[in-house]
Amino acid sequence: MRTVETIRDLREQVAEWRGAGERIAFVPTMGNLHDGHLKLVKEAHKQADRVVVSIFVNPLQFGEGEDFDSYPRTEEVDQQLLELEQTDLLFLPQVSEMYPRGQDGHTEITVPGISKELCGAHRPGHFTGVATVCCKLFNMVQADVAIFGEKDFQQLMVIRRMVADLVLPIEIIGVATDREESGLARSSRNRYLQPQEKEAAPFLHATLQEIADLLKQGDKDFHKLERDAAHKLNAAGFNIDYVSIRHAGDLQIPVAGDKLLVVLAAAQLGGARLIDNIQVELGQ
Ligand code: PAF
Repeated sequence: MRTVETIRDLREQVAEWRGAGERIAFVPTMGNLHDGHLKLVKEAHKQADRVVVSIFVNPLQFGEGEDFDSYPRTEEVDQQLLELEQTDLLFLPQVSEMYPRGQDGHTEITVPGISKELCGAHRPGHFTGVATVCCKLFNMVQADVAIFGEKDFQQLMVIRRMVADLVLPIEIIGVATDREESGLARSSRNRYLQPQEKEAAPFLHATLQEIADLLKQGDKDFHKLERDAAHKLNAAGFNIDYVSIRHAGDLQIPVAGDKLLVVLAAAQLGGARLIDNIQVELGQ
């Protein structure tokens, strides 16, 4: 695996592969890689001849008081893991490479509507930071396909919408959430959980699963399902941002007859902000 830190070196390498007619897959990450990320890399290998991974903790997507400074940076171990996954190229830029004129006043990409809801309502500016950095990374890497995890369901929607609206020449693929045996969705932020919180954390997924089961059994009182779940989670020590049942295609509030739903939640548990979701396909 080759590691490059500059856009110039990245472009040179990718251009060489493109010149040889090879197809390129790209996995953007913020590092501190876990099995969930490695699944994305495995999917990337299925999609293309060459796999490029980026590790960049993007300051633009962190709000004031969030964990930008403390976000785990474990590049050495990450590099070893990527090497084992036969990654072809790691792009590891400094902040100054990504934002040479600083972040203030930088051109921003905002996907309206969807960016302001759910996590967007609780993390103002977050999805603008994500869309902006992903657009830049897509332009830098010029891959044919990019792979994202479905754990960040809303992020995936924002990226898909940006790519469609701006006609970016890249295909976006979502990969199912990777879970620990307990059901807890794998996340770099799980390491902020104290042992007791780690034991409590799977209750988030269990609660979403319960809603999914009730929806499948025909329960249509979405508000009550959301309210009851939030109540239970709060009682179990979670500090809920939201539990919400949405249409899986566009994250709108579902209307009668919608068959593809997604149940999403975000909650603070101790020092970790956890997010999770389950997609539900209702029968005829
Ligand atoms: O999901 C992430 O790790 C980040 O939001 C991403 C897509 C790498 C953009 O910084």
